[in-house]
Amino acid sequence: MDTTIRWGTTQSQPILMIPGPTELPFPVVQAMSQPATIQYDLSFDVKILEPVTLALRDIFQTTRSEVIAMPGSGRTALEAAAISVVEPGDRVLVIVTGVFGSLMREIMNRAGAEVTEHTVEWGHPLDLGRLEKDIERVKPKAVSMVHNETSTGTTYPAAEVGRIVKRHGALYMLDTVSSLAGLDVRTDEWGIDFNMTGSQKCLAAPLGMAIVSVSPAGWEAMERRKHKASTWAYDLLRWKENWIPTSRGGHIPDGSPRRQPVSIPTHLTSALGAASRLILEEGLPHRFRRHAVAGRAFRAGIESMRLEMFPDASLRSNTVSCFKAPAGIETGAVQLLLESETCSGSVRLNAPLVRNAGLGVTLSAASPADEMTFAVVDAVYSFATPGVKAPNEAGAPSVSASVAGTVPPTGAVGAWTSVKSASETSKNTLPTASTLMRAFVAATSGNVTSAEPSFGVLAASTVG
Ligand SMILES: Cc1ncc(COP(=O)(O)O)c(C=O)c1O
Repeated sequence: MDTTIRWGTTQSQPILMIPGPTELPFPVVQAMSQPATIQYDLSFDVKILEPVTLALRDIFQTTRSEVIAMPGSGRTALEAAAISVVEPGDRVLVIVTGVFGSLMREIMNRAGAEVTEHTVEWGHPLDLGRLEKDIERVKPKAVSMVHNETSTGTTYPAAEVGRIVKRHGALYMLDTVSSLAGLDVRTDEWGIDFNMTGSQKCLAAPLGMAIVSVSPAGWEAMERRKHKASTWAYDLLRWKENWIPTSRGGHIPDGSPRRQPVSIPTHLTSALGAASRLILEEGLPHRFRRHAVAGRAFRAGIESMRLEMFPDASLRSNTVSCFKAPAGIETGAVQLLLESETCSGSVRLNAPLVRNAGLGVTLSAASPADEMTFAVVDAVYSFATPGVKAPNEAGAPSVSASVAGTVPPTGAVGAWTSVKSASETSKNTLPTASTLMRAFVAATSGNVTSAEPSFGVLAASTVG
């Protein structure tokens, strides 16, 4: 494995292609490199926290909701939202399509909710009619769903579900931990009352911040509680009471000192600020497009090698790809090459699955010249449709314009032949496009050795 430190880009080796944490753009790393500041000083609120909050509102695509960033991770966001709004005995319907739906079910159980689980076979689409009937029957105070179920590499139709939830007057709680800032997530348009995410995935910020948006209906539900929430530090209502200015519906007169309900990590907030700025500079449409093109290219490559994707075709995620190891090939062999992780669904489904993720800036030439990255980037460029900027920070020409817009040929090797010939037009990517193909060919012929170096990434991690 190449352990060269690339000062100009990132210090992390090797590249993280797991579904979080993800690679950090260098300005994000730099933002953490500063002396300590006082988190309760007005200047921190005004110069750091408030601008981050406002930038996040744009990324959440909301003008009605308030975005709150707290210390924690994705599950802190889920738990803070659940405990802040749900009172013991409240009926809640939890849509469970994988590991993270089950996580929300457990959180809701602990919050004392009367939970109805709407179970969906993993990797299979929702039956919206059945869902609506369940909601009609249960009459829940809140419905929760995972937008992008990381454990199975699936994206569920959050807009449609939002319409159903709103038809029945329930609160809509959406886990966007592995989608926000990678997939299009429209907080206002989809009627999301609690949009819950974490900093370390598509936002490309360090692990350590839990982020939740709260809609006006969400605030009202908290204000109508009979008893105060059983959490103090993570009671979201305290943000309205102590931090949000009156001009945005809070209780603090504009310009007056605010009190953070929990001490905010100043370095992580600065890093989140830098990450948010980069996202808005890239532009949400381009960012979503980049993930979409990367996801499509990756799937085309997988399928052209006759590997089978796990989820139903209608659900395949553009941020996390989950595919089956071919019959006769041990998942471990493929993992060895990808050094990725086993999909946690494999335990339950007794099927060997592999996941690979391209979130945030991972699938961009701004990351170090790792072979896997460039293999995927090559694919991205070759399958890119016109109008997509190549995320190439050096400004070097990417794959020639003649291949942009081509549809991958069908057939086992067609797509990769196209990738390979495309890459040959780019000195940047010349040696790398065929790496993925070689690895899988090696895997599918059972010819895998532990000597295969530096392919993909990284640290195995468990989900959950
Ligand atoms: C969809 C989803 N929800 C929740 C979580 C939990 O987030 P965290 O690990 O940041 O606590 C994850 C983590 O991977 C996730 O992918």
